[in-house]
Amino acid sequence: MTNDQYANLKRLRRNPTLREMLKENRLSASEFIYPMFVVNGTGVKTPIEPMPGINQMSVDIAVEETLKAKEFGVKSVLLFGIPKHKDSTGSSSSSQDEAVQQAVSAIKKASPGTYVITDVCLCEYTDHGHCGVLDGEDVDNKATLPLLAKTAISHARAGADMVAPSAMMDGQVAAIRSGLDENNFCNIPIMGYSAKYASAFYGPFRIAAESSPRFGDRNSYQMAPTQGREAMREIAADIEEGADLVMVKPALAYLDVIKEASLQFDTPIAAYNVSGEYSMVAAAGQAGWLDQERSMMEILTSIKRAGADLIITYSAIQAAKILSRG
Ligand code: PBG
Repeated sequence: MTNDQYANLKRLRRNPTLREMLKENRLSASEFIYPMFVVNGTGVKTPIEPMPGINQMSVDIAVEETLKAKEFGVKSVLLFGIPKHKDSTGSSSSSQDEAVQQAVSAIKKASPGTYVITDVCLCEYTDHGHCGVLDGEDVDNKATLPLLAKTAISHARAGADMVAPSAMMDGQVAAIRSGLDENNFCNIPIMGYSAKYASAFYGPFRIAAESSPRFGDRNSYQMAPTQGREAMREIAADIEEGADLVMVKPALAYLDVIKEASLQFDTPIAAYNVSGEYSMVAAAGQAGWLDQERSMMEILTSIKRAGADLIITYSAIQAAKILSRG
């Protein structure tokens, strides 16, 4: 062997043990949060077509799924509810009899160690599909805030460990914080969906959660994909309002935003590996166009490398299985 004039970076890549020792980033099932769609009824397990392997589940099935997740080390779930009735104000979002509230208490009872987070938004509950109540064709930010607070309180009352407002209303974190505090839930943390973009990657979710807007779009309250610095203002505002954790969503097309947020803020950061990111990999995998498992792990690793502390992913169980194989 000669003494090369250039660096020999391959020296450290030749031995598998050394490669393992030198891993800069390690994924762990304990940083995954598994989102689930719960519906009313019993024994319901309805496959969501664009998201192979993911179902709408009634409370009993959601409990089983939580126990399965726990077996592989996934200790946290994020719940979305699909209600019996929708109306213009999303009134069933705060009902203790609805799917989410019921699921929270059933899961906490069956698996007290599971950390249950709930999504707080009105879009699944309104008949127009927008994330707040309307004033004409506009979302009425101010009138929406008490409804979001009421919803969060109903989740806490059911036993939720954390609430996650995703409606992108200004002041939603502050409104929920004071609502929780007034009702003796001062120890329930809030995870703000702080930097949430108006993204095409939510398409499969809207089929899963039956929450597509009936008219218009969400561009007046969600951020445009062109905005990087604006995301930092959103995150700063949420922290100022009392968010205990902040989120960047989607993850894959916004890795730079995750990275920048992790450099600028000390508040823990979650990243949401959204429905469209899951569907793309699943579809290409099923077509035999790429290796689904490897692509999924590569994407999750990129999110971690960008600086996310927590990853919300529909692949949580699959990825945890792979990690447990070592
Ligand atoms: C509700 C909400 C959405 C998602 C999470 N919460 C959809 C939206 O804003 O239209 C998307 C999650 C995903 O795509 O997996 N506001």
